[in-house]
Amino acid sequence: MRVSINDIQGMKEKGKKIPMLTAYDYATAKAVDEAGVPLILVGDSLGMVILGYESTTPVTIEEMLHHTRAVVRGSNRALIIGDMPFMTYYHTDLALENAARFIQEGEAQAVKVEGGERVADIVRKIVEWGIPVMGHIGLTPQSILALGGYKVQGKTPDTAKKLLNDARALEEAGVFSIVLEVVPGPLAHLITQRLTVPTIGIGAGSFCDGQVQVISDILGLFPDFVPKHARQYANILEVMKNAIKSYISEVSQGTFPTPSQSFPLDEEILSGL
Ligand code: KIV
Repeated sequence: MRVSINDIQGMKEKGKKIPMLTAYDYATAKAVDEAGVPLILVGDSLGMVILGYESTTPVTIEEMLHHTRAVVRGSNRALIIGDMPFMTYYHTDLALENAARFIQEGEAQAVKVEGGERVADIVRKIVEWGIPVMGHIGLTPQSILALGGYKVQGKTPDTAKKLLNDARALEEAGVFSIVLEVVPGPLAHLITQRLTVPTIGIGAGSFCDGQVQVISDILGLFPDFVPKHARQYANILEVMKNAIKSYISEVSQGTFPTPSQSFPLDEEILSGL
């Protein structure tokens, strides 16, 4: 049985922190799921850390569905959230169609959308049609051009108030949780206290109900940039490079493959050829 949105709500109510990670493929999803992470996001960060785009805005729904299906196949227990890409939910009908695709074709159990009051009516409709929605406010990478860069959000009285209003509007519209990305810790704390639904922080301090990270950042799999809010728990790229160098050297020296990686043939058959 997969984790449900009620289980996630229950974790907030019991004061149990909610760990969440991104995953984009079968093998990684298997590792994240077997390690016990209850929420897996197939983030549109896919565009940057897997597909090598400069931002998340070029990511298409087809790319997202392809990777969402792989993550679902690799997991048994976690609740899988499909991230709706840029401009795939800018009006209600389009949003309903695309959210349904994540559930029917991607086999996800929820979707995530970026934005606050602006998307509240759209969120309400998706939820009314039976699809759980996660909100996402603060630094919303799909609006990176309008935000003018990857900067901390909600630092002034007006922008802090706007974030609180956005969070309330999303809760009122029916989201089951909200990602708070790169906002001052004390503001994230206050929003977390004022909301009934869980907040999941990324660069939003330790008082959120849960934390989310891009898996490539915590495993050292994305060489271009490590955000300030990430901690590297491993350096998998280094491990990969060392393993690949050993392979090159053994192939060059003829020490790979050995008989144990090869398939024998009877001498008789060989001599009869
Ligand atoms: O796309 C993504 O990975 C995200 C997380 C950073 C929350 O939206």
